[in-house]
Amino acid sequence: MGTTASTSKPVALVTGAGRITGIGFETVRQLAQQGFRVVLTARDDQAAQARAAQLRDESLDVIARVVDVNNPASVQALTAWVRESFGRLDVLINNAAGMSAYGEQAASADLDQAHAVIETTLFGSWRMAQALLPLLRQSPHGRIVNVSSGAGSHGDMAFGLNTGNAMGTSYALAKAALNALTVKLANEEPVNAGRRVLINAVCPGFTATFEGGEQMGARAVKDGAASVLWAALVPDDGPSGGFFRDGHPLPW
Ligand SMILES: NC(=O)c1ccc[n+]([C@@H]2O[C@H](COP(=O)([O-])OP(=O)(O)OC[C@H]3O[C@@H](n4cnc5c(N)ncnc54)[C@H](OP(=O)(O)O)[C@@H]3O)[C@@H](O)[C@H]2O)c1
Repeated sequence: MGTTASTSKPVALVTGAGRITGIGFETVRQLAQQGFRVVLTARDDQAAQARAAQLRDESLDVIARVVDVNNPASVQALTAWVRESFGRLDVLINNAAGMSAYGEQAASADLDQAHAVIETTLFGSWRMAQALLPLLRQSPHGRIVNVSSGAGSHGDMAFGLNTGNAMGTSYALAKAALNALTVKLANEEPVNAGRRVLINAVCPGFTATFEGGEQMGARAVKDGAASVLWAALVPDDGPSGGFFRDGHPLPW
């Protein structure tokens, strides 16, 4: 395990999975528990290696690789490695995201910081999708899951655009744009030999990835990750171009 040898197992790749308390790391674990060989990526090599080693200690099939989704050369290098190692990719989880300053307001936001948030969440996910779609089209069951948020929804009355959610304007705008990208990618995706890549956005729900989260009412990380996993496992006649939490449609 931990080699780059090709495999008959389905192969999944998760971005931004280097944090031990993060949804990305737990999503890697759950995908591997489902029988995937999982490429755990983070922008920090030591973090990626440590997290992957931890999951291999749980007898899971996990390989660490570095990728900074904002760096085209880094994304290209990862893509070349996936192509050479497996010749295809079955699941891409775009989990990496920019985080805005808590309480950031539209009228006063620092636009350089806002730009950086949108760069990672929207363009980073877009870059990964562009790079890896040719390999996902080689899979019999290709899937992209864009990890979004109810913060980017017009209709989520707990966290959405019409609420006072303090996650920050740029975070919400980036997720709304990621949802729109999901629709465009899904609608454009061609049918090849009777199959096509299914592309959905999901919200993991308010999840305790930070200290004190559960005391604030956030759900366990395993439950947030399960919401992501659902979209990775949708059947071939399942949805594409949708926005879901726990397998249920969310309003745009
Ligand atoms: N927690 C929640 O309540 C909640 C609710 C709704 C949606 N979500 C979404 O769920 C996903 C995971 O969130 P989380 O709570 O687990 O937070 P998180 O651990 O901070 O996840 C974000 C990850 O993205 C990585 N990242 C940032 N910029 C990157 C880049 N340029 N290239 C590659 N990776 C990069 C971060 O890596 P570093 O560790 O290197 O900074 C971090 O590991 C995010 O998309 C988030 O928006 C979370």
